[in-house]
Amino acid sequence: MPQGAAMNALDALVQPDRVHRSIYTDADVFNAEMSKVFGGAWVYLAHESQVPDPNDFLASRMGLRPLIITRDSDGGLHALFNRCAHRASIVCQAECGSARRFQCSYHGWTYSNRGDLVNVPYPEGYPADFHKAGHGLAQVPRLGTYRGLIFGTLNLDAPSLAEWLGPAGPLIDGFVDRSPSGRIAVRNCQRMIYRGNWKLAWDNAGDGLHPTFAHRSFVILNERQHGGARSLSQFKASPDDTGMYGADLGNGHMFVDQRPGLHQSFWETQRPVPGREWYAAQIEQACGDDAADVLEVAPGSMINLSIFPNLLIKGNHFETVDPVSVAETRLHTWMVAAEGAPDEVNVLRMRIAEDFPSLGNPDDLELFERCQEGLAIAEVEWVDMSKGLGHDAEEVSADGVVRAPVTYEGPMRGYLRAWLELMSSDVKLTTAAAGEVTCEVAA
Ligand code: FES
Ligand SMILES: [Fe+2]
Repeated sequence: MPQGAAMNALDALVQPDRVHRSIYTDADVFNAEMSKVFGGAWVYLAHESQVPDPNDFLASRMGLRPLIITRDSDGGLHALFNRCAHRASIVCQAECGSARRFQCSYHGWTYSNRGDLVNVPYPEGYPADFHKAGHGLAQVPRLGTYRGLIFGTLNLDAPSLAEWLGPAGPLIDGFVDRSPSGRIAVRNCQRMIYRGNWKLAWDNAGDGLHPTFAHRSFVILNERQHGGARSLSQFKASPDDTGMYGADLGNGHMFVDQRPGLHQSFWETQRPVPGREWYAAQIEQACGDDAADVLEVAPGSMINLSIFPNLLIKGNHFETVDPVSVAETRLHTWMVAAEGAPDEVNVLRMRIAEDFPSLGNPDDLELFERCQEGLAIAEVEWVDMSKGLGHDAEEVSADGVVRAPVTYEGPMRGYLRAWLELMSSDVKLTTAAAGEVTCEVAA
């Protein structure tokens, strides 16, 4: 299929058992995704704990659009486009901080953290009908929060955030409620970049077939060092005999549940991390009989919950998927603290959140780059995703969740159906000015 032709044949690109290579390689498909998916759908932007106090701000992105997430002096949230209303320069270069005002470093236009233009240097030169009120920072018109997670969409016709999340909502609750206070706090991140399309990471997030092979060296190293029955050992031999399953949650969201593959506490199966014994001893001393329950908050939740199109909740941390171009993607791994847990637990959570991303993600990223290289062969057009298709081991529950053994490729087929629906729809994107934003609290 020639470059560019893909957008005219979208329906043909996603078939029940296979997808066309061009959805990973075609620049026109990528540009349409940046509007219809990373604009038309609800996109994860940040967590409220990253802007906890009035006047806090944080840099973020919505697809290719740089954003400043701000909390104004009254506590209201805004997602401002980081794009000067004068001649388009990025206004804020800091990643986070506290500021009431943002001054563009090019010609000095200055904005409030609500996005209003508050000062223009040498104003006497402007025409009589130039009003500051019409030149604020454009912003994301619809925001929504769910258990502190902030989402935004440019599509006023998108469903409510609660509807969009659907059965993924209670699974987010399960992740957050492992924290003793029922609240989490997102801390700093570890950054990686790979030369491949963003959907290679999305495919992988619902892929329970790959760990046995892609992470084989990690599994072997793990067992040699620490013995069997450690996290990842469940993928060693026959993953589908363990009860682990994958699920298509609808709207592109996916779930992989590894919990049935483990027969001990998560803490017991967690691989050793630096300081494990010392921190555990502190907790045992401080918490006595409750120590085992307190320690259980430290390791991963043994789930992979993927909130389409850009948030992966994995283990005890978040990962965000940021497209850069059709063949380049940033992956950020965010440490997530359990508010109200002892500091020792949160240090352990941080060490554990460094474990798989440091030792396992390089396997995945290397394979994403190999896939992108293979996808460059124009004459070999199709990517197979047929495992489990039509198999009677697939179950559909009352809420529409399709669940199947963990090595089946149903979650990928499910998210690509949702992708196709979004990509085929007529989406009208819009921006707002200060004072025009709505923010819905879904939970
Ligand atoms: S581009 Fe920002 S003040 Fe000119
Ligand atoms: Fe992996």
